[in-house]
Amino acid sequence: MIVLGIESTCDETSCSIVRDGRDILSNVVTSQIDLHAEYGGVVPELSCRRHVDVIIPVLDQCLSEANISLQEIDLIAVAYGPGLIGALLIGITAAKSLSLALNIPFVGVNHIEAHLYAALMSHQETIKFPCLGVVLSGGHTSLVRMDDIGTYTPIGETIDDAIGEAFDKVAKQLGLPYPGGPQIEALAKEGNPHAFPFKPGKVKGKPFDFSFSGLKTAVLYTLQGQNAKNASLMPLTPQTMRDISASFQHAALTDVIDKVVLAANECSTDTIIFGGGVTNNKALRLMFQEKAPHLKTLWPAFGLSLDNAAMIAGLGYHTFLKKGHGDPMDLNAATRIQF
Ligand code: KG4
Ligand code: ZN
Repeated sequence: MIVLGIESTCDETSCSIVRDGRDILSNVVTSQIDLHAEYGGVVPELSCRRHVDVIIPVLDQCLSEANISLQEIDLIAVAYGPGLIGALLIGITAAKSLSLALNIPFVGVNHIEAHLYAALMSHQETIKFPCLGVVLSGGHTSLVRMDDIGTYTPIGETIDDAIGEAFDKVAKQLGLPYPGGPQIEALAKEGNPHAFPFKPGKVKGKPFDFSFSGLKTAVLYTLQGQNAKNASLMPLTPQTMRDISASFQHAALTDVIDKVVLAANECSTDTIIFGGGVTNNKALRLMFQEKAPHLKTLWPAFGLSLDNAAMIAGLGYHTFLKKGHGDPMDLNAATRIQF
């Protein structure tokens, strides 16, 4: 089955052709980083306009790279949420229009589930369920028990900032451009992770939930001198930036790893499936391997960890097979969806 995937939930416009949920024939991603960099975060109105401008060229390029004509597509899969309302509507409208014009079905796919599917793209037949799914992205931080592709039980989530959002906000405090995750990771490599005693939040009575906003504020107070004896601004030398980045990253990643290990135990599984942009972080992968060598890990290929349409097309294939039919034309964008 040839599936066209469409992704436009936030600041990437992407189209992809995937055969039978696993073979990626093309995966074209255009990022809007240039557009949002100066604002330190995604500006929704600018994001929508850019999606409108690029969606048709991205579709054309994805077809030509896969050497597939529109007539050869069997199914369209589109991320229908969660995300920015205007951005979502552009992908959904493209999917519905193509579905009508080509007389083929379309299915809506949950973008967060698709992040987990990215790690499964080439393993879906060999994986043994249950597994623990771990989504670490700019919009979500979730732990879920996975009993099958499409069958999830939430275990924990963030009660405030998502982990990627915390990386982005700390980077902004340090005067670094959006997105901050890769910048923090690069600086952290040469910093001392124990220079500042940052601690991530604990959520009372909920051992699997996350809270990153206090950690972000601790960095801010450190920068403002409020954690030091003299309440003056801390001089931001290159080494201080490295040490703050390393200490923040170490605190955030240690928290994630500790909770993942605890949750794996709770789910009686030794297999962890990771997804989302923060899994690009090599320190995370190394630290996890060091702290939990007894657990099996599936990580998305580096090209599939950030937002992309291949994971949408891949999961869409399974969604369609399970449902046995496409979605109706009144499928709406959903800015918030849980597992
Ligand atoms: O999954 P994604 O592309 O978008 C959402 O669905 O949110 O994730 C984007 C997030 C951003 O917050 C970005 O800063 C973070 O992933 N990110 C990283 C790294 N690369 C991207 N965070 C930490 N380390 C990285 N190397
Ligand atoms: Zn995403």
